[in-house]
Amino acid sequence: MSIATTLSDRIAAAIPRGVSVPLPILAHHASGAEIWDADGRRYIDFAGGIAVLNVGHRHPHVIAAVQAQLEAFTHTCFGVMPYEPYIKLAERMNQLAPIHAPTKTIFLTTGAEAVENAVKIARHSTRRSAIISFTGGFHGRTLMTLALTGKINPYKAGFGPFPADTFHVPFPDAYRGGSTEKSLAALETLFKSSVEPSRVAAIIIEPVQGEGGFNIAPLEFLRDLRTLCDRHGIVFIADEIQTGFGRTGRMFAVEHAGVEPDLITIAKSLGGGFPLAGVIGRATIMDSVAPGGLGGTFAGSPVSCAAALAVLDVFRDEHILERAEKQGVLIRARLEAMRTQFPIIGDVRGLGAMLAIELVRDRTTREPAPELASRLAVRASERGLILLTAGIYGNVIRILAPLTASPELTDEGLTILEQTLSDLH
Ligand SMILES: Cc1ncc(COP(=O)(O)O)c(C=O)c1O
Repeated sequence: MSIATTLSDRIAAAIPRGVSVPLPILAHHASGAEIWDADGRRYIDFAGGIAVLNVGHRHPHVIAAVQAQLEAFTHTCFGVMPYEPYIKLAERMNQLAPIHAPTKTIFLTTGAEAVENAVKIARHSTRRSAIISFTGGFHGRTLMTLALTGKINPYKAGFGPFPADTFHVPFPDAYRGGSTEKSLAALETLFKSSVEPSRVAAIIIEPVQGEGGFNIAPLEFLRDLRTLCDRHGIVFIADEIQTGFGRTGRMFAVEHAGVEPDLITIAKSLGGGFPLAGVIGRATIMDSVAPGGLGGTFAGSPVSCAAALAVLDVFRDEHILERAEKQGVLIRARLEAMRTQFPIIGDVRGLGAMLAIELVRDRTTREPAPELASRLAVRASERGLILLTAGIYGNVIRILAPLTASPELTDEGLTILEQTLSDLH
């Protein structure tokens, strides 16, 4: 019996099917943008544990900060006895936030928890209940975040009913016929047909959809949304859980549009590989909730906060934002070249180093090819590259390589992608 079969069998026997594991590779150790399996095989990591490792696996500065924190204490619960790393991190996030008004930050553990808290804060501060999100969006796996998520399979099917008073509007997805005008018109229709704007607490949007397939919200759409929120007193929530922490070449993707959100949800690469999430927001909104209304036992773990402080140092000292831009240029050029070679690539898109290809059966009809995307990910892993699929149709290959990956390693990974695309032809 091969190791892979044994592993698949053990996973199937011990872990529910719902936890899907498309690549049966047992992680053994990792460094930077590389992972080795239990057999000593090396993989280039273009997944980063789903956008968590913008500074790479086990960055030495992050590991040193975590080790120092482990020597001091691992847990008190911030509400029981506060600690410096949480406070310092909040201060630094408040300075970094693209909001020109006093801001405050709460830390949590997972992205879904950050979105849940952003909804709670928005509802509390507006005394309204309705929340608007977008088709194709992904906001987490808890019941409220699933209500906001705009992708049925595999996330929502069979898990309802979801919390009430949530509404979806088409995302302005250019490749699939969406536009700023259509999405704005849909919002106007929603306000006429389903929910009056004076009852809407918040609109939540990913500036670039992650799970949804790296669809980019036009910058003018984000600005129009800001204007609309201002007109109706609606809280603008930017879900920067996947786009955040430098992935698009700016610390937050909304900065490309010059838009100032009211609340920003953060997670993933914030903790440099340790579980940490947060909500940054205007102090006036954040402070509407009474003492005790927000928090959690493990929320803002001191170990994760220490890691995040080190991540911020790495961003400053290693010029990660500039490197993200350069990595984006390199990846985009190679993907565009592949597009001229392989007709199954219908689209190349992204912002900064958040780039993807959309696979289609036919470039004219744009019929999605999810089976090719799954095969590509499996074949690439056999050649030593870890890739992730995405998209409402599951036909997008997204690239989330550590921003610290050298140009040579990034190029090597892209060559494997190109070879794998050749295999499929
Ligand atoms: C934009 C966005 N929001 C929320 C989440 C949920 O984060 P988590 O899986 O940490 O709960 C994700 C996760 O992929 C995400 O990409």
